[in-house]
Amino acid sequence: MSNHLLSLWDFDKQQLNAYINRAMQLKKEAAQGVRHHQLDAKVVALIFEKPSTRTRVSFESAMYGMGGQVIYLSGRDTQLARNEPLKDMARVMSRYVHAMVVRTFGQEVVEELGRYSSVPVINALTDLFHPCQVLSDIMTVEEVKGEIGKLKIAWVGDGNNMANTWIQAASRLGFELKLACPPGYEPNPDILAAAVRESVKPIVLVRDPAEAVREADVINCDVWASMGQEHEQQERAAIFQTYQVNGKLLAAARADAIVLHCLPAHRGEEITEEVLEGARCRAFDQSENKMHIHKAILEKHILAEG
Ligand code: CP
Ligand code: NVA
Repeated sequence: MSNHLLSLWDFDKQQLNAYINRAMQLKKEAAQGVRHHQLDAKVVALIFEKPSTRTRVSFESAMYGMGGQVIYLSGRDTQLARNEPLKDMARVMSRYVHAMVVRTFGQEVVEELGRYSSVPVINALTDLFHPCQVLSDIMTVEEVKGEIGKLKIAWVGDGNNMANTWIQAASRLGFELKLACPPGYEPNPDILAAAVRESVKPIVLVRDPAEAVREADVINCDVWASMGQEHEQQERAAIFQTYQVNGKLLAAARADAIVLHCLPAHRGEEITEEVLEGARCRAFDQSENKMHIHKAILEKHILAEG
């Protein structure tokens, strides 16, 4: 079995929960000032073909926090920019580092790297998935509301990489998920169909944001135009207008519903300033938890290699 983290499909409920439980333990230990050295002398390469603040810095900080080192490579700094084949890159990097954390466009890029790499490849966001982010988000939900299996989760907005990953998580972990997306901006239909087939709880796509949030414990949103879609920004802003997470939409939800946003946020578009800065929004806890989840991921995947 490969030791990569490319998509949540590759993990069962117990394995997904193990990341979250370990991250919670590491978070507690960090607060107690416990010093970790389990990744002493280990080196990770971060290969990022898209911008990042949170994912990059939290992976770097996670690695240093366990005694390891990182090498950051932006896409344009490597020979990938001059079309060196991915299969060559994967085999070369495997001789230098103990894992690769990769942010790129196509999911097929991380899959190809994974096929040829003898060290773990971790997906730090593709156009299709953002698995590490959704693990941090579920950790955040469980800190506030307990076991996610008992909760109802809503997604409002674009059926993007985050939505696809929430769909996978819902089917694997067994929680209710209601997504409200405008026509033409639905999540990946194959992923949705596979998740619905497998899930013990309903995973439902609707059009009306108010319907999606009505009974929800958690309301999730993300940018309307993801990285690489900047040229569609204006067109999407018009189409998604009624999908804004604002005070009116929150009024249609449970009084104790919390709001998630993986950030970066565009205030006044997918979320209002008032909601993002409000007491019900957990966006900055999500950001913090990325570092703890990344520790749990790096520790598991690197140490499994011996
Ligand atoms: N949420 C997230 O992945 O943020 P960055 O793009 O800043 O890494
Ligand atoms: N859907 C967003 C997530 C950013 C963390 C994007 O891909 O740009």
